[in-house]
Amino acid sequence: MKKILFVCLGNICRSPMAEGVMRRLVKEAGREQEFRIDSAGILSYHQGELPDSRMRAHAARRGYQLTHRSRPVRTEDFYDFDLLIGMDDRNIDDLRDRAPSPEEWTKIRRMTDYCARIPATHVPDPYYSGAEGFEYVIDILEDACSELLMSLSSPQSAPNT
Ligand code: 4NP
Repeated sequence: MKKILFVCLGNICRSPMAEGVMRRLVKEAGREQEFRIDSAGILSYHQGELPDSRMRAHAARRGYQLTHRSRPVRTEDFYDFDLLIGMDDRNIDDLRDRAPSPEEWTKIRRMTDYCARIPATHVPDPYYSGAEGFEYVIDILEDACSELLMSLSSPQSAPNT
């Protein structure tokens, strides 16, 4: 079982979108039994809320239904998950500050390090942007999550030769 936590600032735009993209890719690959996928925010300000209505609308246009409820990152997350994937420098710095030990520190990753097609260095916060910002977030996440899934290929699906 691979356990992945996507992390952004508010957990109402980027990380619930990443969760939605990854869930669909995993489902399409028939690998749901292999993964636990969740998302969380650095802030607790939006705790309990559905993703931002603009994020949900842009997601729905590509067939994603986002139903995650915002929650803050907890210390247990560093033990419970194998990878904690931040969206930008600030998320990564905040995760590093909160990592309870060096072993958990090494689980922190940057979402855009998995990008294969889009030359992005971070997933920009779309909260104060227009429609293009939300579309760009989904473009980056579809690219990065696809590569993330490939990087976590199951031994069973590896070629025999
Ligand atoms: P997210 O976007 O980190 O992608 O969920 C944000 C949502 C809310 C706030 C900041 C970023 N906020 O400050 O309330």
